[in-house]
Amino acid sequence: MAYEVQGVVARGKGAPVTIETIVVPDPGPGEAVVDVQACGVCHTDLHYREGGINDDFPFLLGHEAAGVVSAVGEGVTNVAVGDYVILNWRAVCGQCRACLKGEPQYCFNTHNAAQKMTLQDGTELSPALGIGAFAEKTLVHSGQCTKVDPAAPPTAAGLLGCGVMAGVGAAMNTGAVQRGESVAVFGCGGVGDAAIAGARLAGASTIIAVDISDKKLEWAKGIGATHTVNSSETDPVEAIKALTGGFGVDVAIDAVGHPKVFEQAFYARDLAGRVVMVGVPTPDMTIELPAIEIFGRGGAIKSSWYGDCLPSRDFPMLIDLYLQGRFDLDAFVSETIGLGDVEAAFDKMHKGEVLRSVVLF
Ligand SMILES: NC(=O)c1ccc[n+]([C@@H]2O[C@H](COP(=O)([O-])OP(=O)(O)OC[C@H]3O[C@@H](n4cnc5c(N)ncnc54)[C@H](O)[C@@H]3O)[C@@H](O)[C@H]2O)c1
Ligand SMILES: [Zn+2]
Ligand SMILES: [Zn+2]
Repeated sequence: MAYEVQGVVARGKGAPVTIETIVVPDPGPGEAVVDVQACGVCHTDLHYREGGINDDFPFLLGHEAAGVVSAVGEGVTNVAVGDYVILNWRAVCGQCRACLKGEPQYCFNTHNAAQKMTLQDGTELSPALGIGAFAEKTLVHSGQCTKVDPAAPPTAAGLLGCGVMAGVGAAMNTGAVQRGESVAVFGCGGVGDAAIAGARLAGASTIIAVDISDKKLEWAKGIGATHTVNSSETDPVEAIKALTGGFGVDVAIDAVGHPKVFEQAFYARDLAGRVVMVGVPTPDMTIELPAIEIFGRGGAIKSSWYGDCLPSRDFPMLIDLYLQGRFDLDAFVSETIGLGDVEAAFDKMHKGEVLRSVVLF
């Protein structure tokens, strides 16, 4: 028996999202249906709505969620009905060349549900990042469910499902920030602030937050930034050099996804430093850099998908740190909203008024 629930759909490029009745099929082999309890609004949802990811409209948005498994299909063993889970977009396959090399965090063939969720007229929906969790129920592959301690409330836990994990992992995994290093984070939204939190957890001693909004910079200080730079007023490369003895930072993280910002991050790092791109560029963007600068500065230029995380390893660890009071996930939740408020939340995100709006079911 299929379920009919309410969900947030982007029907066409740039068009405001609408609430639609979604048909969620019973889980097939290897699949699970999850009753979503909370789902954060990530900038990537807005990218989808603006056609910046691909043209597979209509999209069922939402992908940063926690909930409870309400049905499982044949052969599912990793979760059972009643389990409290965070949804992930990296259900590793165990068989691709990355997995076989022992690097499942790069899995090239991650699992999603085989069946499609649809509109009532049968139109197939493309769930954002293979999840689609701005809906009361969603259908996923069982590997997309990571069991965590139910003591963590869904508003906080769900954030690990995308933006916070992407940011923490960009610092800890991709950037491999070490104790005593200096880090600059460009863009202090949910992802950038999580990179700041990750740098702090890793023991960075200088953490420079860069944004064009003073409000965001103030919040970033609360998360762990030791210095702030408003790059709409000050040249951030010069400011970062001045804060690091004239050298630049060991790790520079672009959490905006704009060529200009990437360039600033590139020039703001010390020799042999790492530049990490975690902000998502649109397909039309290009970056031009003098080749001699790429060669001459040494170090590494890396992109970070989902913070190079392994959900089964990283989600329970970060939830433990949260429950111990060592990682303040609640600081990322600016407001809780209803399913009908996602379009307004995009607007607030665009205006820089929120870190995370979280839909609470
Ligand atoms: N790589 C991944 O796995 C992954 C995962 C989730 C999100 N993302 C991407 O990360 C980016 C950030 O997402 P978010 O949810 O934190 O978005 P957000 O809109 O909440 O935050 C973006 C921040 O960047 C700031 N900003 C904008 N232009 C700037 C500039 N020129 N210089 C400095 N700061 C600037 C804004 O003021 C804002 O604080 C997006 O591109 C999103 O798609 C990537
Ligand atoms: Zn794989
Ligand atoms: Zn996201």
